[in-house]
Amino acid sequence: GFVTTWNTGAQRIKGYTAEEIIGKHFSCFYTPEDVQSNNPDRALQIAAAEGKYEEENLRVRKDGSVFWATVLISALRDRTGELRGFAKVVQDITERKESEQRLREKDRLATLGTTAAVFAHEVGNTLNGVSTSLQVISDLINSADNRDPLLAETIEMAHQDLRRLTSLLGDYRSFAKPQTLKFEPSDLRQITEEVLAPATNSYKASGISVTYDFDEDLPLVPVDREKIRQVLLNVCKNAVEAMPDGGILSCKAYRENDRFVLEISDTGIGIPDGLDVFQLFKTTKPTGTGLGLPIVEQIISEHRGTVDFSSQVGKGTTFRISLPLGLG
Ligand SMILES: Nc1ncnc2c1ncn2[C@@H]1O[C@H](COP(=O)(O)OP(=O)(O)OP(=O)(O)O)[C@@H](O)[C@H]1O
Ligand SMILES: [Mg+2]
Repeated sequence: GFVTTWNTGAQRIKGYTAEEIIGKHFSCFYTPEDVQSNNPDRALQIAAAEGKYEEENLRVRKDGSVFWATVLISALRDRTGELRGFAKVVQDITERKESEQRLREKDRLATLGTTAAVFAHEVGNTLNGVSTSLQVISDLINSADNRDPLLAETIEMAHQDLRRLTSLLGDYRSFAKPQTLKFEPSDLRQITEEVLAPATNSYKASGISVTYDFDEDLPLVPVDREKIRQVLLNVCKNAVEAMPDGGILSCKAYRENDRFVLEISDTGIGIPDGLDVFQLFKTTKPTGTGLGLPIVEQIISEHRGTVDFSSQVGKGTTFRISLPLGLG
């Protein structure tokens, strides 16, 4: 179990010089966990009994760093069959392990991607079923003699949850499976107003006013209107959610060479430095999903546009969407 010879290959892998290591017990190459479970001795016992012992496991270098290794221990016997010692060959396979791991991760993501669409579809069907059942129940209750208000309220809450799930699922599906866009020359001011109009009253109630500052004579922009609505909805929803105590939501648009620029600003809490808001499932909200901005980014990039933001914590945020005026 003690080191008696040491070559330069071993030195390169493990960092010890021959003087340093000869005479030491070979368990110093093992992780503390391995030593604790007596694995070094067990390896020698197996090698002695069966002639050799092989494993693929973690080993420790002189500097304490850990690496993946294949280890082959062979029993050395003299002519009479007497056990004389062991020969140990160690190979550093960190690189191979890492590329295997990367491959597995890629596989996993690819599988996830292909199953996501099917999964979302199945969940959607189930939601539809539940929604129909709820509708039947609420109709029955409404026609019954004793209407319990709590019952009606509970059913309405379930309905709301369902609507939320359904819309979340819709977002997710459009993200998992990009569709082909239908480009039409569009008036972005009109679309913006259409998106914001239905919510204006509820904004007012929470102390949020909306302003428009669109340059005169702006050209039409070739966009998929439904998708751009989705973009505006997500960005404005974030802006409103950033202003729990009220504030100003402003929409500004201008032309910059051959691009149309739309800026949505809020006077809200701001985005902390270093928060990667475009990352999938990145959220700071208790009931957020972190799907909003990844969807925005995907749709805008499908339009060959760009989206970025500037923000100051405590002051507010501006999201800037730039779209090409000509496609091609
Ligand atoms: N206008 C904004 N002001 C402050 N923070 C923002 C703003 N827009 C986005 N963020 C931050 O970026 C995060 C990600 O936004 P995103 O829209 O992707 O997800 P979400 O709003 O958390 O959830 P979801 O949109 O899916 O309901 C938010 O949780 C929030 O921390
Ligand atoms: Mg959001």
